[in-house]
Amino acid sequence: MFRTNTCGELRISDVNRQVTLAGWVQRSRKMGGMTFVDLRDRYGITQLVFNEEVNAELCDRANRLGREFVIRIKGLVNERFSKNANMPTGDIEIIVSELNILNTALTPPFTIEDNTDGGDDIRMKYRYLDLRRPAVRRNLELRHKMTIAVRRYLDEQGFIEVETPVLVGSTPEGARDFVVPSRMNPGQFYALPQSPQTLKQLLMVSGFDRYFQIAKCFRDEDLRADRQPEFTQIDCEMSFVEQDDIINLFEGMTKFLFKEIRGIELTEPFLRMSWADAMKYYGSDKPDMRFGMTFVELMDALKGHGFPVFDQAAYIGGICAEGAAHYTRKQLDALTEFVKRPQIGAKGLVYARVEADGTVKSSVDKFYNQETLQRLRARFGANPGDLILILSGDDAMKTRKQLSELRLEMGNQLGLRDKNRFACLWVVDFPMFEWSDTENRLMAMHHPFTHPKDEDIALLDTHPAAVRADAYDMVVNGVEVGGGSIRIHDPKLQAKMFEILGFTPEKAQQQFGFLMNAFKYGAPPHGGLAYGLDRWVSLFAGLDSIRDCIAFPKNNSGRDVMLDAPSELDLSQLDELNLVVKVKE
Ligand code: AMO
Repeated sequence: MFRTNTCGELRISDVNRQVTLAGWVQRSRKMGGMTFVDLRDRYGITQLVFNEEVNAELCDRANRLGREFVIRIKGLVNERFSKNANMPTGDIEIIVSELNILNTALTPPFTIEDNTDGGDDIRMKYRYLDLRRPAVRRNLELRHKMTIAVRRYLDEQGFIEVETPVLVGSTPEGARDFVVPSRMNPGQFYALPQSPQTLKQLLMVSGFDRYFQIAKCFRDEDLRADRQPEFTQIDCEMSFVEQDDIINLFEGMTKFLFKEIRGIELTEPFLRMSWADAMKYYGSDKPDMRFGMTFVELMDALKGHGFPVFDQAAYIGGICAEGAAHYTRKQLDALTEFVKRPQIGAKGLVYARVEADGTVKSSVDKFYNQETLQRLRARFGANPGDLILILSGDDAMKTRKQLSELRLEMGNQLGLRDKNRFACLWVVDFPMFEWSDTENRLMAMHHPFTHPKDEDIALLDTHPAAVRADAYDMVVNGVEVGGGSIRIHDPKLQAKMFEILGFTPEKAQQQFGFLMNAFKYGAPPHGGLAYGLDRWVSLFAGLDSIRDCIAFPKNNSGRDVMLDAPSELDLSQLDELNLVVKVKE
């Protein structure tokens, strides 16, 4: 027999209906001769009632139900005497006439409720139980809604979904690869794709001018709240387009998703900002635009007044926290400790308060007279009651990043980062290359297939570090939710790019020959983008970590504690793979 009703659907209008419900026992309580059981399924909770006087045997069986037992009941919908306004089904209850225990259950290791008593580790180990909690289930429902909406939108725009392989070849650049040994090719390894980048470009060569894929990607990198070793991209590529075409189409998709998923109508065009401005004014390539506190550079205003720290600095910059002049000494000390934390690495923090009468009081009053401090105040346009916070350092980029952390912290402390407000931004004109100290060479900032800006191509020979790329990121509330670029489709330009990245022609051919050769057979101009699905879902759901919108995520050490993976292989398996494992000390 198939279940005919769900626990979430029954309302007062169903009173006197005979229903069948199946689900899990959330909890039960005995009150005198009555036993009340909360029955839960995917759709909600309904209260069941057993009355000893009406049916003692049935009531006795109900008294023996444990938490998370699986049951099916038949009964009559009844209006509830004491209604529960917190439950959608709180107006009704079921007078049970038939109880069928489908399965018993061990007592779960934590309570299956939104406010559970289970810590992170235990919930990860029993993730299948954690997924029974409505809050977690809702995240997966939202994720489902999101992928359906994405498919609908892209289908309507003429995109075709194509699957690409998960066993591919290892390529340099980018993050570290996860690798898989090949039994049939002893000593050789596949790599799992970090993204379907080169494959989608090959599809453009094949003439699929609008491709997308909801694609699993794998990167062996250090994990953070917004990073998992395997994650999902909404991966797209288009032919015969320019940067604006791609940005416009995906801005359209973003607005569509906001409407579909959150019911939010975004009518204005999204802000666009060059990478250089993002770094200059926010110290970050993914600035949170929900609030201001843009950086003001202060070298000219504060250098040369005898304060040794500033006099020796290569960069001095600050932010103005509106209305924060009331910060106590203790709070300011805590902020100083915050910026001095090893992860941030600033040496100290200078502050200046604008008092009610307009005078400025700073922590370095000794070196600056009121006239200089008033000029400082004017630079920020600071008003009485505002607090100016200043950092300096011997490396401009590093100091800006430290100031960015301080800005975000102040945003948090002043309540300016409301999860229900969204600020979307395109960051454009990324640098083509970034210098790697470890590799001692230029590396592609996006990837080696990114097209340089036409007007900067001449600089490739003379000043490659200054070359900007036709690359763009989508940033929402300080999270990089997507990125892409126009690609190189000219084999000669691609070869030059590899040369700058330090590849010999032989090495480039060996690693990327498949792509460069394909480009010799008529490659259309093309470009694309990938959105991070997990990051989008966690933004829409207001989560702190993308883990919460992934059914079976890894922990911070990259482990699946439920499956106990990764794990060692049996000797016989290793033998079959022709492998001998020797773990380095
Ligand atoms: P990129 O490396 O910027 O670009 O990745 C695109 C988007 O994927 C998401 N993302 C991640 N999400 C969770 N965990 C991770 N470890 C992780 N890494 C990345 C981010 C990011 O913006 N092939 C190019 C795209 C292109 O050029 O078309 C690419 O992969 O939201």
